[in-house]
Amino acid sequence: MEKITVNLCLGTTCFVMGGAKLQELAETLPAKYGDKIEVVGKTCLELCSSGFSKAPYAKVNDQIIGEATAEKIISAIEEILNPKEDEKVENDEDEE
Ligand code: FES
Repeated sequence: MEKITVNLCLGTTCFVMGGAKLQELAETLPAKYGDKIEVVGKTCLELCSSGFSKAPYAKVNDQIIGEATAEKIISAIEEILNPKEDEKVENDEDEE
């Protein structure tokens, strides 16, 4: 399985809107998931320019997470690691 990339926005807008708490994930996620995951801090994900209402932002692979919290990010990671049955069948077929 490819590594899951978690991009955490550490830019000013996101930081002010609650992103400061997300910085802790840079340490806790690798500890929880080991080498299944790569956490990258970004200075700006270029999402805040469309409006501040959903900051702080994070991305799990290509999935944008607005009003990001540790819970939302972990939930997105878990969905990738433990896909629902329909998706699992598709993914199993991809691996062959
Ligand atoms: S500061 Fe977070 S998306 Fe721009």
